[in-house]
Amino acid sequence: MAKPNSYTCTACGASYPKWSGRCDACGEWNTIAEEAPLSAGPAATSLGARKGRTVELTTLATRETPPPRTQSGLGELDRVLGGGLVESSAILVGGDPGIGKSTLLLQAAAKFAASGLKTLYVSGEEASAQVRMRAQRLGLAEAPVMLAAETNLRDILTTLDVERPGLVIVDSIQTMWSDNVESAPGSVSQVRAASHELTTFAKRRGCSVVLVGHVTKEGQIAGPRVIEHMVDTVLYFEGERGHQFRILRAVKNRFGPADEIGVFEMTGSGLSEVINPSALFLSERGAPSPGSVVFAGIEGTRPVLVEVQALVAPSPHAQARRTVVGWDGGRLAMILAVLEARCGIPFAGLDVYLNIAGGLKISEPAADLAVAAALLSAREDAALPADTVVFGEISLSGALRPATQTENRLKEAQKLGFSSAILPSGGKSGTDAGLSLTRATDLTGFVGEVFGA
Ligand code: TYD
Ligand code: MG
Repeated sequence: MAKPNSYTCTACGASYPKWSGRCDACGEWNTIAEEAPLSAGPAATSLGARKGRTVELTTLATRETPPPRTQSGLGELDRVLGGGLVESSAILVGGDPGIGKSTLLLQAAAKFAASGLKTLYVSGEEASAQVRMRAQRLGLAEAPVMLAAETNLRDILTTLDVERPGLVIVDSIQTMWSDNVESAPGSVSQVRAASHELTTFAKRRGCSVVLVGHVTKEGQIAGPRVIEHMVDTVLYFEGERGHQFRILRAVKNRFGPADEIGVFEMTGSGLSEVINPSALFLSERGAPSPGSVVFAGIEGTRPVLVEVQALVAPSPHAQARRTVVGWDGGRLAMILAVLEARCGIPFAGLDVYLNIAGGLKISEPAADLAVAAALLSAREDAALPADTVVFGEISLSGALRPATQTENRLKEAQKLGFSSAILPSGGKSGTDAGLSLTRATDLTGFVGEVFGA
């Protein structure tokens, strides 16, 4: 019996028996596309010709030494990878089209090649001459990188077999096609099949693979999320179009901490590393103004100071606006509700805009208190002292919870010239890093302390 076609979400890979306008799994609109069925194969009840190999866990020698890594010398990239590129690992680099993935990876390829790793850069989007022109613009024309312009997976595998590189970069996975699958390049089944074949083949030959995936908003092209589970490390390259900062974030890493970030600055001659992101994120800050608060955050293993900006204004609309950039909208609603319910400060009838300066996306709960401070400062039209940092988590009861790594946050603030901090009471009381500390146990106490209400 022929298997009927199924419908798959190109953003998250969820499959459905029939088409619908919105994916229930990820909530995206217009992402569900028809997929040809994979060949059914023999029934699941029939047995294979030979038994799979099994070993006793206890008989495996414990591996004391960490896996061998190659450093690119691009410190921000090496950090996000967990200390360098692990041998035979598979890495996915996702990001919006035009954000700078090809630029980053060409620079990385040149660095890895220069450090002695045989590196092959396969482009399915540009001809080799175009890649060369890009390399010239980046000042990398002399880099010992091998280039290939190819989309046929079988040819790429043959190239890998013959050339035996230590690293292959495939830009982008959506342009690759495997003749094992009938559907068009870019469809969910093609992207999955091509990723699977590439990673398994390369790993068996001791080669690391970097797959580039464009984040797609809608339509027939599968997004990088559909192959996240197949790779060891998932990195996303983020940033606001109008900003020069670009952030490489590890969202999954089998060989290092997740949530680690690398910060880059876009320049005419490519991406340059930002060694001290706090200084960069705060560089655009003007004189102290209402609604502006500096949050002492932790991104991965490193403290980062960023400015939280809020604007609160009477709303001309029947339903007041809530607009957030760089933070979670649901979390903002929660803070507003806690301020209203626990402190009696209403935001009804007021439009609220919240922005994390510099294009950084923050997901840490410790940002709660900084956001609350920015909202109150904007609402009361009262600026906080410019030399103050704020951090701490707010619970639904209005109680404040101490954040992790208090000491690191304070030290970073001190290093950047701040002299005071507002934070929750309790937690480990280590050094105050020379800052004058204002501590509060709950949100009401914080409002009284800071805004004298
Ligand atoms: P590109 O690397 O092609 O983006 P992606 O591969 O993610 O689609 O970069 C897009 C454009 O931006 C390209 O024209 C080059 C330009 N660019 C710079 O000029 N400087 C930079 O530092 C970066 C990252 C990009
Ligand atoms: Mg590109």
